[in-house]
Amino acid sequence: MANESCDKSKCASCDLDCPSRKSPQDLREPPNKLSSIKHVIGIISGKGGVGKSLVTSLLAVSLQKRGFRVGILDADITGPSIPKMFGLSGQLKGNDDGMFPAMSQTGIGVVSTNLLLEEEDRPLVWRGPVIAGVVKQFWQETIWDQYDYLLVDCPPGTGDVPLTVFQSLPVDGVIIVSSPQSLVSMIISKAANMAQIMHVPVLGLVENMSYVSCPDCGKEIRVFGDSHIEEVAEHFGYDVLARLPIDPKLAALCDAGQIESADCSALDGAAGEIVKITTGVTGASS
Ligand SMILES: Nc1ncnc2c1ncn2[C@@H]1O[C@H](COP(=O)(O)OP(=O)(O)OP(=O)(O)O)[C@@H](O)[C@H]1O
Ligand SMILES: [Mg+2]
Ligand SMILES: [Zn+2]
Repeated sequence: MANESCDKSKCASCDLDCPSRKSPQDLREPPNKLSSIKHVIGIISGKGGVGKSLVTSLLAVSLQKRGFRVGILDADITGPSIPKMFGLSGQLKGNDDGMFPAMSQTGIGVVSTNLLLEEEDRPLVWRGPVIAGVVKQFWQETIWDQYDYLLVDCPPGTGDVPLTVFQSLPVDGVIIVSSPQSLVSMIISKAANMAQIMHVPVLGLVENMSYVSCPDCGKEIRVFGDSHIEEVAEHFGYDVLARLPIDPKLAALCDAGQIESADCSALDGAAGEIVKITTGVTGASS
């Protein structure tokens, strides 16, 4: 029976167990029965091209260097870029129990539509619901065997895919990636509001392309003008986990499929923070 005092809008902060309670957890999908994943972290942005996939890859490398077993679920179904950054190609293998992630040179597991298609340069002309279904399949059918962290690289914006990730996967929290430019506040708000509506904690912000280091003296050159990330972070009560410079070496390593040889120290602080936050957070699936 519905409780008299229930206004149906505050289930997250209400401890009554009544039929009006509709938490996002109700829609969670079980992972593959052979999977064991301690923490799921989503990487999102309000806007495309800010460097989500690069940040996802470098975070994976940094977490792995700390001794964790890390996987990446490339949820950018129609614009997958993770396999290329890790130099992975070919098709995923599987058996009756499920599908195995591809293994990078250093042992990071990757699942992506680019590893399913016979011709990786063929565009996918699928509609939203089908695309969201593929994300669920990557979660349900992949055998993620003993992973500490599964990073989910979302497509930009607040569409079907991030919503599906938030609803169907036991996401511990999300990292919002942005770049320094005007409108940054509005762009971050979009992503932040989506996380809030879906009851997913925001672990913090990462600002990419923050500055360029002068090759001669190391001085920070603010190509896009002064950054407003601190103000925006303060406004929302988030932490800035990292600021990543524009580095032509990074772009070259992405293109060469050698992201694992990149210097990921700019994201070490962010990786450390993820570890700190998630090991204090309960409720990850196993
Ligand atoms: N800090 C950086 N320094 C140099 N190059 C960068 C940096 N960040 C991103 N790039 C380059 O920009 C390209 C686009 O970045 P990335 O694919 O990570 O963006 P994205 O936000 O995932 O894009 P999309 O919204 O299309 O998924 C990368 O391949 C990389 O070459
Ligand atoms: Mg991307
Ligand atoms: Zn200089």
